[in-house]
Amino acid sequence: MNSLPTTQLKHRHSILMVDDEEAILDIMTMVLAGEGYDLHTASSAEEGLKKLQEIPGLSLIISDQMMPGMTGVEFLEQACNICPDAQRVLLTGYTDTDAIINAINKGRIHLYITKPWRRDDLLYTINQLLSKAELIIENRRLDELVKKQNAELVELNKGLEEKVRLKTLDLNRRAEELKASYEKIQMILDGTVLAMSKIVESRDPYTAGHQQQVTNIAGIIAEKMSLPPDQIEAIRISAALHDIGKIAVPSEILTKPGQLNHLERELVKTHCRNAYDILKAIEFPYRIAEIILQHHERMDGSGYPQELKGEAIMMEARILAVADVIEAMSAHRPYRPALGIDAAMEEIERHRGTLYDRDVADACLEIYKEKGADSFFPATDMKQGG
Ligand SMILES: [Fe+2]
Repeated sequence: MNSLPTTQLKHRHSILMVDDEEAILDIMTMVLAGEGYDLHTASSAEEGLKKLQEIPGLSLIISDQMMPGMTGVEFLEQACNICPDAQRVLLTGYTDTDAIINAINKGRIHLYITKPWRRDDLLYTINQLLSKAELIIENRRLDELVKKQNAELVELNKGLEEKVRLKTLDLNRRAEELKASYEKIQMILDGTVLAMSKIVESRDPYTAGHQQQVTNIAGIIAEKMSLPPDQIEAIRISAALHDIGKIAVPSEILTKPGQLNHLERELVKTHCRNAYDILKAIEFPYRIAEIILQHHERMDGSGYPQELKGEAIMMEARILAVADVIEAMSAHRPYRPALGIDAAMEEIERHRGTLYDRDVADACLEIYKEKGADSFFPATDMKQGG
């Protein structure tokens, strides 16, 4: 039995033994019998080369050096091309020939064993070479596994990129749909607001166009004050509907020439609360009903209907109040001729900080200072008597 420590091999290995001496082949066959190898023999280099082609997955090739026709070195050089992964061993009686050293240096031969060899040494050497062969096989297996997994990762990555691309396309499409839907809703809202605005004006020809003018003026002031777009939009919608509550006020009162009596004035005042009651049920994107409810409130608490003061009044309502006064004073009314834009500006300046918000008043006066009479009304739509 083999007394040197050997490595437990994982695979059953094929070995090719080439020697022109039958006796050596017989001995080798005897030595390796029962060791768990598949031993193949060839009695010439020529036969050896033929067997190399026929036997798949050879792990070890042992060749005698001195053979007729071809030396062991020459044979193993050719074997190296046919089975590059097999371990190659030369059996020789010589230890110092240039050919052997050169072949080892070139990597054609992994090991040489000098004759005569000891059985145990030979078995140990074969076991170590096959263990090395197993490492090479394992290394190649891992290498192929890594390559395969890399290829799978590349495919997976391609799949992910495609999924991301498709998801992005889908999201973009949905964003477009949402935008179109939002624009449609915005159009419906604008149309509805305009229709509601026209309904109240149809009952009061003297104030026809009043809400539209107030919308323009309030928008100009809000922009001058650099308010956020959402707040400006809320101001415009509120302005377009701010007198909708007059729908509940008898048209005889709305169109009455001359001053109104106390009761009539009180009736007109109900338009703020009426508007709030009409609009509070509508889910506007902004607090339209509250803004309109407060458009006759004044900073010193002298307004109506809640007699709110200062900060308690929404900024949108403070702007709407000033825009309403500018338009009302610039326009003709059944009970008086138009007072004009200059008078309106004087009114705003005089009551800056008392009736009207300071910042709103300042914005108005600045606009008027910069652009004069055209500030709040387009030139083609100038108020008479202004
Ligand atoms: Fe009003």
